Amino acid sequence: MELDECIKSRRSVRAYKDEPVPREKIESILEAGVWAATGMGKQPWRFIIIEDKSIIKFVSDETKKTVIKAMPAFAKRFETEQDIICYNAPVLIFICSEVDPNFSKLYLEDCVLAAQNMFLKAHELGLGACYMGWIDVLNRINPESIKKAGVPEGYEMKVPLILGYPKSQQGLGKRSAPVILKWIK
Ligand SMILES: Cc1cc2nc3c(=O)[nH]c(=O)nc-3n(C[C@H](O)[C@H](O)[C@H](O)COP(=O)(O)O)c2cc1C
Repeated sequence: MELDECIKSRRSVRAYKDEPVPREKIESILEAGVWAATGMGKQPWRFIIIEDKSIIKFVSDETKKTVIKAMPAFAKRFETEQDIICYNAPVLIFICSEVDPNFSKLYLEDCVLAAQNMFLKAHELGLGACYMGWIDVLNRINPESIKKAGVPEGYEMKVPLILGYPKSQQGLGKRSAPVILKWIK
């Protein structure tokens, strides 16, 4: 797929076929991730790939419970049996790093850049993916559940994302034209 087409036709996918993703595809998505730019060349990303449905459900349930407790304004939306967190995706990936001793924050940027490469590669391979920002609430309010889901001591989950075969063709997205505040010559 041509680069411009890949960038512009990628969409966040929130409905997945109940079909496993072949290991080789997951591996080539991870490979795309590690070619991202990285602060000071550190390459801090470490990946946890979760295909165990019970753990994916655990993460979704804990996220819902935590949001309801910590952000009552969202309670109505999150009090549902439906998996509105991981959307029943067959694969959940945590992009992690070692706990950043200097709190430099660069590890987060690195992992986010890796995620964008991974989204594009997934799309090129006919897969769908979505950034799972809600799950980040567990880092701040319910870190025990992150450990229970498989993140080892000494590591932090930076980016949660889901992956799988899309149930349907994604529509075109919308973007505003770039707003140039200044072009200084
Ligand atoms: C930092 C970040 C967090 C996000 N968190 C969620 C999320 O928790 N749940 C969700 O369904 N989509 C999430 N998204 C996906 C956005 O909603 C989506 O990228 C946006 O609506 C634009 O649509 P597109 O990705 O199809 O172009 C997140 C995206 C980003 C970049």
